[in-house]
Amino acid sequence: MRKPVIAGNWKLFKTTGEAVELIHSLVSLVNGITDVEIVIAPVFTVLGTAKAALAGSAIQLAAQDCFWEQEGAYTGEISPKMLTDVGCSHVIIGHSERRQFFGETDETVNKKLKAALAGNLTTIFCIGETLAERESENTFEVLERQITEGLAGIKVTDPHRLIIAYEPVWAIGTGKTASENQAQEVHAFIRNLLTKLYDKSIAEKMRILYGGSVKPDNINGLMSQPDIDGALVGGASLKADSFASIVRFA
Ligand code: PGA
Repeated sequence: MRKPVIAGNWKLFKTTGEAVELIHSLVSLVNGITDVEIVIAPVFTVLGTAKAALAGSAIQLAAQDCFWEQEGAYTGEISPKMLTDVGCSHVIIGHSERRQFFGETDETVNKKLKAALAGNLTTIFCIGETLAERESENTFEVLERQITEGLAGIKVTDPHRLIIAYEPVWAIGTGKTASENQAQEVHAFIRNLLTKLYDKSIAEKMRILYGGSVKPDNINGLMSQPDIDGALVGGASLKADSFASIVRFA
């Protein structure tokens, strides 16, 4: 049995005061839920305050990115060590917006994944094809490259600490979701690839999340699919009621 993960990616939204307000509402709405791993990812500057606001709650804290060295002369960067220090248990790596706007490649994603895992963070590794790649029927080729290069040299010792998030770029923030069947087809492909890269027992334990315009009204259908183990939620995670409804999927 894989424990579902619902993670909210707050992107570049919510100042400290707004974040605390959202956390307080959310904590009361999801209080008592223990069968779902609930994660929120505010901006770096809010993490310390968010950790304090989450005290006593089961909601876990993620950062949206990290650097691949633990410390050193790297002005402006944030390392896994600094994230655990501030109370993060999770980190998102390789989000398509980082790949699109900040020059992340499969190689830099691989270095970051290694550092995050070595730094004891549970890592949400994002992959996904663009619209052009889907239309030219390259979806599976692109995903296979992102996964094999992203995970190159990575041994999975604890399958619960490496989470894959499949986010078709054309579905992020667009209101277009992959249909449940389209998503399931890709998730099954990913699990099969993980079986080849590792083994069946590891692949069966790893959570594969879907992301891209996940909302309270499409989460149930997605979660009814056998290989969809949760969601990475952007827009709908910015309001306590919509995120809580997603967490409470039937
Ligand atoms: P969205 O974003 O839910 O707003 O589409 C998802 C993501 O980028 O992780």
